[in-house]
Amino acid sequence: MQLLAQDLGGAVEPAARREYGLASLVVDEAGGLFERLPAELPVWMSHGDVITRLPPGFRAVAHSLNSPCAAMAGPAGRLGIQFHPEVVHTPLGREVLRNFLYRVCGCSGTWEPSSFIDMAVSDVRSRVADRRVLCALSGGVDSAVAATLVHRAVGRQLVCVFVDNGLLRRAEADRVIDIMSRQRHIDLVHVDASDRFLAALAGVVDPEEKRRRIGRTFIEVFEQEALRLGQVDFLAQGTLYPDVIESTARDTHGARTIKTHHNVGGLPENLRFELVEPLRYLFKDEVRKVGLALGLPEDLVFRQPFPGPGLAIRCVGEVTRDRLETLRAADWIVIDEIKRSGLYREVWQSFAILTPISSVGVMGDGRTYANVVAIRIVTSDDGMTADWAKVPYDVLGAISRRIVNEVQGVNRVVYDISSKPPSTIEWE
Ligand code: XMP
Repeated sequence: MQLLAQDLGGAVEPAARREYGLASLVVDEAGGLFERLPAELPVWMSHGDVITRLPPGFRAVAHSLNSPCAAMAGPAGRLGIQFHPEVVHTPLGREVLRNFLYRVCGCSGTWEPSSFIDMAVSDVRSRVADRRVLCALSGGVDSAVAATLVHRAVGRQLVCVFVDNGLLRRAEADRVIDIMSRQRHIDLVHVDASDRFLAALAGVVDPEEKRRRIGRTFIEVFEQEALRLGQVDFLAQGTLYPDVIESTARDTHGARTIKTHHNVGGLPENLRFELVEPLRYLFKDEVRKVGLALGLPEDLVFRQPFPGPGLAIRCVGEVTRDRLETLRAADWIVIDEIKRSGLYREVWQSFAILTPISSVGVMGDGRTYANVVAIRIVTSDDGMTADWAKVPYDVLGAISRRIVNEVQGVNRVVYDISSKPPSTIEWE
């Protein structure tokens, strides 16, 4: 609002008191953004200045204790607000945005996955024409939906590369191949590079070093495959709108590049592709709707987020084949029990971590000295902040019992009850 008010000929000055946090917004003029909302509503503020002179033609339509103009309206339907309607701390923020879209702008809310699909398919088709497209599949929903859309547009001109880094959950690799290749007949190159990734990770315990080596190895493997495929002009990516916003922010520092989440970031100079990003104006929930409309299975479409470096950053300490197997077995049980309890879609992520700690236990007549597995189950809206999930004790009990009974080499299970911040979701 500072920029807006100044640009429009108003004046903005530092406030005597910074307003940060929850404030009470008093609506002085109902209607417009505040149609059908209470006369006073809690909003999230974060500013250190106030408007001392409104731009010509504007009037204040709401105020707060420290801001005589917390919302303004002007000529030609122009509006300005000082609070943050987009954060969860503004409980009625969604209603404010709804009013903006449907009442102020006159949008009708008729977005349909099927019309989006028709439009995206025709865009991709006309852009690609008879050339070839490469797509790196990660096993996640974004790249799967992007690939399926592009495939619908250009069929066999699309080739997908699935780099199996050996750091995936149990049965993930087979599922990707089954869905994309066997069921949808997408041309798919499956590269089993697990030995190479494990060799690159040998002896590494530092989390950032793990990420660097995984990223580097991915690029090497991907480059090798891309060169083997011959002339390819386009790279399809499952970039979503939040990634676009993020990279636009980076743009200002001159660094708009390929999405880094998929570890395709920093592809070498000799691999110059034009990008095809059919999902770049969608949010995750819309991608999921498109995925379902394209006929992708629900368990793929609603899969919980999974980090690019995979199980390597959940294997605290050195990543070895044996440790990965132990972690995979424990992780499988967590997911199985969380799905059984109906919580899978309620929570943001649920997974196991193999700690580097061994503890003493007793099994039958014998004493054991074996691994401790930690369970992390969190609720979150966007992964930026998170809270540990208050999972019922009997579900936690079942997870613990099964892991200790079924996973060799584990004799203790602990539940992580830290929120983010100050902890992160992943342990590494
Ligand atoms: P943290 O641990 O930072 O995680 O609280 C926030 C979200 O990001 C995911 N995550 C990653 N995703 N590459 C990824 O693609 C990574 O290196 C990475 N590290 C964390 C994490 O799973 C959570 O959803």
